[in-house]
Amino acid sequence: MIKDLRSYLEYLSKRGKLGNVNGMVSPDLEISAITDRENKEHRYESRTLLFNKVDGYELPVATNLMGSYSVLKDLFSGFGVADFLSNLYYAKDISLIKGAKTLINSKPNVSRRGFKGYRKVGSLDELPIIKTWPNDAGKFITLPLVITKSPKDESTNVGVYRMQVFDGETTGMHCQSQKGGAIHILEAKEAGKPLDVSISIGTDPFNILSAVAPIPHGISEFAFAGIARKARTELLDCGECPAVPANSEIIINGYVDPNEMRDEGPYGDHTGYYSIQQPAFVFHIKDIYAKENAIYAASVVGFPWSEDGTAGKFLMEYLKPMLRLINPNIIDIELPPEGAFTNMCFINVRKRFPGDASKAMFSILGMGQLSLTKIIVAFDEDVDIHDIGRVIWGISTRVDPDRDIKIIRGVATDTLDHTSNVFGYGSKMLIDATKKSKEDGYTRTWPDAIVPDKDILKEIDKKWRQIS
Ligand SMILES: Cc1cc2nc3c(=O)[nH]c(=O)nc-3n(C[C@H](O)[C@H](O)[C@H](O)COP(=O)(O)O)c2cc1C
Repeated sequence: MIKDLRSYLEYLSKRGKLGNVNGMVSPDLEISAITDRENKEHRYESRTLLFNKVDGYELPVATNLMGSYSVLKDLFSGFGVADFLSNLYYAKDISLIKGAKTLINSKPNVSRRGFKGYRKVGSLDELPIIKTWPNDAGKFITLPLVITKSPKDESTNVGVYRMQVFDGETTGMHCQSQKGGAIHILEAKEAGKPLDVSISIGTDPFNILSAVAPIPHGISEFAFAGIARKARTELLDCGECPAVPANSEIIINGYVDPNEMRDEGPYGDHTGYYSIQQPAFVFHIKDIYAKENAIYAASVVGFPWSEDGTAGKFLMEYLKPMLRLINPNIIDIELPPEGAFTNMCFINVRKRFPGDASKAMFSILGMGQLSLTKIIVAFDEDVDIHDIGRVIWGISTRVDPDRDIKIIRGVATDTLDHTSNVFGYGSKMLIDATKKSKEDGYTRTWPDAIVPDKDILKEIDKKWRQIS
């Protein structure tokens, strides 16, 4: 039973998915370099690493908690969010009721037992916060679950937003403008008051993955984690600050003043580039608590592939039913890690009428975090969008650039995309790489793609093995 970070590490160890690093390591570039090598060598099946001796600190550091696709898949298997959403997809009334019940039954439990089992930590300087890349502006908390409450309706949001350490009591909070935390800060600004914020570092994988998942704003990440875990999320009341997972290794309570911004970065990001210095929110720390023998959790991102690539691939697979609920003719989707999630997206579509592929691509541009995608390519179902060779073949042999490429100007872009002239505002490209017919205005005869004869393939199997 995985009930916290420690039992998760034990589970990983039993599966051969935990690497113990027992030699002394520095939190300054070394932990990140070792983690990055693990990701580059093992990609979707990377191990979690536990650095037991960190130079200058008492706490060990765990990285790559979401590094293995097969582990994530097994953890989230069985009845979960995917089934809940599939029920909605098939839209049978009874399933809708069942689905709604599932969500209500997953409401987290809040305990008011206080910080028993935790010790007070004087300042951030006591935590082994890592510096990831040489030109980073400094140390960053890279896997904080940032918990905020809407000043309007009290709903909770949880997101992972990196936090640059400015000093022992202050950090940045790099929350992109479209994210749930930023919406709450805006609401606090309208209400003319600061926003209380809690940070959880090191919790179970269900809470972590849910914080990263692109869940529609307003749906509780903790309820989502409860569905996936098949047990409610246990929270610890933090007084005026939002409640945190009761199994957090480290808890930080504080606030953000919506009118205060400070330059943040540069930071070596998952695009493979350093994010340029930009103003970010400022988080003021009130209290820090750590479990006895706490484990500090961190994430390392950089030139693809990194652990966020694995988490993203898994979440896309897991949440596909939600996509199909909204647009049933999108059969499959791939966000290649090299496209940094928001720069490139491939979809398979089932075309039912002229322009249907464009409709599917436009619908992606209107959908939550997927709306930030810069380049979308639509393929027929016979092109394997998970095979980059097939993708190149599909684009090369089904696209007439003048007819099939649409440029959309004047739209919101991912703020991490440095290519547009203006921060967060630029253009998109939609490529229709589906076969064209008369209905599409194509006046020639579209050739059939070569598909081998199945019976012959079976026949030649034996003969193939006999080739000497
Ligand atoms: C390791 C890691 C670091 C991340 N850092 C940031 C960040 O600094 N800022 C941000 O806005 N999103 C960041 N994200 C992505 C968000 O956590 C993700 O978009 C999440 O769905 C946001 O939740 P929200 O929609 O509730 O805001 C990061 C994700 C991962 C896996």
